[in-house]
Amino acid sequence: MTTTGDTPPAVTTVDTGDGASSLPGEFATFTGPFVRATIHGARESPKAIHAQLATGEGVILRGEFRYVDAVYRYCQRFDRELVPSDYFAAIEDQRERRAAFTRERRQRLHRLLVEAHDHCLPNLSDAPAYDGLTDWFDLRPPAGPYLIPYRRLQRILTDMERAREGIAMEPIGSSLAIRPHVYVPTDQSVPAMYVRYAALIDGRDVLDMGTGTGVLAVLAAKLGARSVVATDISPEAVANARENVERAGLQDVVQVRDAAPLFDATPGEAFDVVMFNVPWLDGEPQTRYDVARYDPGFRTLGAFLDGCPARLRPGGVALVQLSDIARADGGDPVGLLQARAAQAGLQVASTEAIQRRSRTAGGQETVFVFELRPAASGA
Ligand SMILES: C[S@@+](CC[C@H](N)C(=O)[O-])C[C@H]1O[C@@H](n2cnc3c(N)ncnc32)[C@H](O)[C@@H]1O
Repeated sequence: MTTTGDTPPAVTTVDTGDGASSLPGEFATFTGPFVRATIHGARESPKAIHAQLATGEGVILRGEFRYVDAVYRYCQRFDRELVPSDYFAAIEDQRERRAAFTRERRQRLHRLLVEAHDHCLPNLSDAPAYDGLTDWFDLRPPAGPYLIPYRRLQRILTDMERAREGIAMEPIGSSLAIRPHVYVPTDQSVPAMYVRYAALIDGRDVLDMGTGTGVLAVLAAKLGARSVVATDISPEAVANARENVERAGLQDVVQVRDAAPLFDATPGEAFDVVMFNVPWLDGEPQTRYDVARYDPGFRTLGAFLDGCPARLRPGGVALVQLSDIARADGGDPVGLLQARAAQAGLQVASTEAIQRRSRTAGGQETVFVFELRPAASGA
């Protein structure tokens, strides 16, 4: 993944039947390879457009935003039918076959495209406000016309709206500022899971690893932590967390360190509580935002667990949040966490869990917080 805004994007050329157009590399990673896309009016039958997407080629929609959105929703609702059920019949292993099918289905859905030109969406009328759209891209877009998967555009527009308004966050009793490329904790029940550990946090020194917007750091301070150190590998997250700590007037309690991986920002320090809402999916991050969601081979999780015992004071505890959503891709993240924790000399002292509908994959997921303690100290 390229993460600087100055690097010219790699583009894929797509034949639109109306000339060639380009698909910036950061979007091509979502669509997977395809060579052609046909132009359609957004008022055409969603069923016909779904059938076109099911060929594996792209569809470029022009017209009113709300019709484009309606077509997308139809295609999303029937996304399983975008890929023939026997498409991966040659793959013998069932888990691999399911993962390949899920990937192909997501890629085909991303091939529902809209046109952009520099900072504008010229063939989309009545779109929600999108000033500053390209600030939310990973890379500068190519000069001239290019294509965006509607699904990406929709996600970006939603995040832009949240950034304009801030998001209400009941567990911390105030709203959160959101910045581009920073993980948005939209479901309040997820950060709220830490409230159940208030007694462990009250009066203690806390490390919030991977702080993102700073939501858990602020929450820990509100739950009575004596001090909170917040760290993140992402400079955008660090800036966002500092903004939210200031908003909450908690600068005396929460210190947000400069961006660094894992424990590099806290050399030689130890804490009573280490919190980490880890990236939940196994895979290569494709965008700066994805660094919050994807952990290739769960290596960051493993390194974090290995580092924990040395960073915990006697009686200290790690509170690790993880979802089982990677099961949809054939993984076993919870089993892996338990095994890696045991290898690192940590034992599970308690588990909290909630069920919800996944924003990423659509299906049900269970989100866990594991209370981990060094095995020798007992639970
Ligand atoms: C799922 S998000 C959680 C953000 C926030 N704590 C929350 O609950 O909303 C994971 C966070 O971990 C950060 N992260 C990913 N890899 C990291 C690493 N190796 N070191 C430090 N932070 C990392 C990401 O940038 C992201 O902000």
